Amino acid sequence: MTDRSKRAGPVLCVVGARPNYMKIAPIMQAFGRDLFPLRPVLVHTGQHYDHLMNERLFRDLELPPPDLNLGVGSGTHAVQTAEVMRRFEPVIDDLGPSCVMVVGDVNSTLACSLVATKKHVPVVHVEAGLRSFDRRMPEEINRVLTDQISEVLYTTERSAHENLTREGVAPERVHFVGNVMIDSLQTHLKRAVPLETTLGDAGVPRSVISDGPYGVVTLHRPSNVDTPQALSTVLAALESASRLLPLVWPMHPRTQANVERFGLEKTLSRMRVALLPPQGYLEMLGLMQDAAVVLTDSGGIQEETTALGVPCLTLRENTERPITVEQGTNTVVGSDRQLILDSIASILSGKGKKGRLPELWDGRASQRIAEHLAAWLDAARDRIAA
Ligand code: UD1
Repeated sequence: MTDRSKRAGPVLCVVGARPNYMKIAPIMQAFGRDLFPLRPVLVHTGQHYDHLMNERLFRDLELPPPDLNLGVGSGTHAVQTAEVMRRFEPVIDDLGPSCVMVVGDVNSTLACSLVATKKHVPVVHVEAGLRSFDRRMPEEINRVLTDQISEVLYTTERSAHENLTREGVAPERVHFVGNVMIDSLQTHLKRAVPLETTLGDAGVPRSVISDGPYGVVTLHRPSNVDTPQALSTVLAALESASRLLPLVWPMHPRTQANVERFGLEKTLSRMRVALLPPQGYLEMLGLMQDAAVVLTDSGGIQEETTALGVPCLTLRENTERPITVEQGTNTVVGSDRQLILDSIASILSGKGKKGRLPELWDGRASQRIAEHLAAWLDAARDRIAA
């Protein structure tokens, strides 16, 4: 055990980008309960910075504003990762944390883990062990490296344990706790915003989405949106899909910028689609829970649709969340137009996957993490003191 574990310093909880907030919110809440006085300090790296990608989700998730915002912003992978590291190092020096908790697989996750571990501060990784086995995905690199340098690894599904064992991670460091995203979903579902309101707030006429079934689209992976060829292929598939049912598409800024950069507005204009700006958490829950199908390349949405029992078509060649396919409502379809159309037709005829809730996706994962981490930190201090 490391010298730093002696300190009764705070637990530094790191967020950087949108998918991190719904993971850290229930954990911060659990830490705050009397039983586990874990003194969380929330550090936002500033990887995402727009109001729509940030404050709105903090509000929806009842997440307190960050104690510190490092204001890193966008950049190439190297620049963004390096800038997070540079700005995070003095935070560790100032606060002397007992551990650094990171979630998910974004650049901020890896950057802060690297800084912490080199300063002998234990790294705690939530959502460890997921693997797409596609090393062209920046997130896959972030996952593999973060897991290698984490001292405590919390997992959402059992396949993660096989992956970590194969990579030589000691099994005693790995703990199956369930899925904190589902904690957030279960807490906030009752406040989900109806489609009607979301369309109205965005100024989209209700007539764009008829009263029948509709699909929801989200798309932002570099492999789908960063080249003209990839983006036009997926847009063509979505255009055909929109003839089967109208689509609602809250568009990520990366995708929005690339549609304009590659001159693909025409394809979009031919689509039967309500285009929306990035949505809040409660709006997304509302859109998804009433959708006939969700078409996405997001990781978290594959899990949320499984929890909601809504069929999901994953517009990627692989998934790091195999349990959503094996037990949930997810089907991996890539950008194969015919496969997408056949899958939608089958869903519309009532043959979509119903799925079931995976083990420990029960809304209590954060509680398990708080209990385990409090005991782990105590034991670490005792070992040092002995
Ligand atoms: C990042 C994560 C990805 C996650 C996604 C969720 C990495 C490697 N990628 O991808 O895993 O699924 O967040 O959204 O960490 N931009 C804005 N406003 C913002 C943030 C970004 O306009 O608040 C635009 C900028 O043009 C920026 C681009 O989006 O260059 C990409 O942002 P970046 O943080 O690099 O990656 P994401 O695609 O958002």
